[in-house]
Amino acid sequence: MSSHSFVSGSSAGVYSPRQGQAYALVSAKTGQRSPSNRGLSRINKAGQLQSSATRQPCRERRHSLQICNVAAAERPTLNLNGASGSQARVMIIGGDGYCGWATALHLSARGYPVCIVDNLVRRNYDAQLGLDTLTPIVSLHQRARRWGEVSGQHLDLQIGDICDFEFLSEAVQAFKPDTIVHFGEQRSAPYSMIDRARAVYTQHNNVIGTLNVLFAIKEFAPDCHLVKLGTMGEYGTPNIDIEEGFITINHNGRSDRLPYPKQGGSFYHLSKIHDSHNLHFATKAWKLAATDLNQGVVYGVDTAETTAHPQLINRYDYDGIFGTALNRFVVQAAVDHPLTVYGKGGQTRGYLDIRDTVRCVQLAIDNPAQRGEFRVYNQFTEQFSVNDLASIIKRQGAKLGLNVQVASVPNPRVEAEDHYYNAKHTHLVELGLEPHLLEDNLIDSLLNFALQYKDRIDVNLIKPAVDWRKAGSRNAMMSAAIAK
Ligand SMILES: NC(=O)c1ccc[n+]([C@@H]2O[C@H](COP(=O)([O-])OP(=O)(O)OC[C@H]3O[C@@H](n4cnc5c(N)ncnc54)[C@H](O)[C@@H]3O)[C@@H](O)[C@H]2O)c1
Repeated sequence: MSSHSFVSGSSAGVYSPRQGQAYALVSAKTGQRSPSNRGLSRINKAGQLQSSATRQPCRERRHSLQICNVAAAERPTLNLNGASGSQARVMIIGGDGYCGWATALHLSARGYPVCIVDNLVRRNYDAQLGLDTLTPIVSLHQRARRWGEVSGQHLDLQIGDICDFEFLSEAVQAFKPDTIVHFGEQRSAPYSMIDRARAVYTQHNNVIGTLNVLFAIKEFAPDCHLVKLGTMGEYGTPNIDIEEGFITINHNGRSDRLPYPKQGGSFYHLSKIHDSHNLHFATKAWKLAATDLNQGVVYGVDTAETTAHPQLINRYDYDGIFGTALNRFVVQAAVDHPLTVYGKGGQTRGYLDIRDTVRCVQLAIDNPAQRGEFRVYNQFTEQFSVNDLASIIKRQGAKLGLNVQVASVPNPRVEAEDHYYNAKHTHLVELGLEPHLLEDNLIDSLLNFALQYKDRIDVNLIKPAVDWRKAGSRNAMMSAAIAK
């Protein structure tokens, strides 16, 4: 049976935003799946999109798109900071997404041979939910070609679904990565709480995708270091300090160093927790090398590379499903919409600038875990409560002449609104991270950025869209889910 299908009873329904259809059915009796439940299309040798139905046999399919060099004289200026081409070969799963695109360019600019793997499903979520990024992003293929022209560096593309093990194993064998950075998951807590279908899809996509990555490394690249994006949300909000991955517990006269207890606050967070357990187990059982980056909430949009050309611009989500707190507040301020603080606003989390995300990932790559080792880093630079963020935006907005209002709205989530929070985050700093802290001038530039794209803002998309308590077993009508 296909490695990416759930089966219970005679057939199983797995929500499939990849194909824009509600369910992909798999017969438990025959093990056959619908042809439409395959990975997406890929690039052939001629650089053309090819559907899975018309693909050539495996051995002839080992070529991915190479982005050609252009003559140096035609290139815009970009400081390729020490690019040497002699670095680790890095496969970036989820390289079309917010963190993945910025990281792919950051590494490529520094000489790491990079292969992006992505099934473009993030663009499908937007199409299905009627959402859009604030920024006008071009297709991944255009982005990659433009990067080739701007930088003279190659970017390989493999378009496909990592839940399709055949696709993933071919991609790994073709590229032969020294490191796989895995960003390629459904990453929105609200999305996972819309309805049963999307809860199942999220856990299937994330847990099975990661399991496939672990098996692909074991089978085809056992020395490859896996750098996996987890989230600080895995820890929840315990009433004690949060350690980096492990905690020493003394119990009934005995002591042990154990994985820090996890308390996910959504089906998305729970998928990440399961990933972490699978990683930890695989490092023990198969002696794989893995680093789990428990990332905080990322803000900002620009990096040195994404600003090198308008077509390299990153995505910027501000809607009630994919928009993260600070980025969403900035857009609200730009359109005179009150900043929507959920409940009391005491919810405190770790945050980091996207320029630090790319640097943290590079540090994790350059300092790989050993075979058999499971490293965990808490990847954030500062803690803020939602009220802290709202105050900062209000203050900075006033300097730009914006009359920013703050409104408390009923909290759609089930979470503590006033709690202790103190999370350790020293490992990446010890490796050399020099954080970009949230400063007034960054808020100013973000506010100006949002004002620049004001015409693209749809205010209907920025209110809280999904209520944790109302998630049901029936497929939600999207118009209702968004407009609630
Ligand atoms: N953005 C944040 O604030 C944040 C915070 C903490 C952790 N993270 C984690 O970082 C990672 C990246 O987040 P992001 O904000 O860049 O998300 P994103 O949605 O912008 O990007 C994810 C990318 O993965 C791709 N993808 C998803 N499922 C796939 C599959 N089965 N096969 C191939 N590609 C697939 C999507 O098409 C998309 O391009 C996620 O794992 C997320 O959980 C993000």
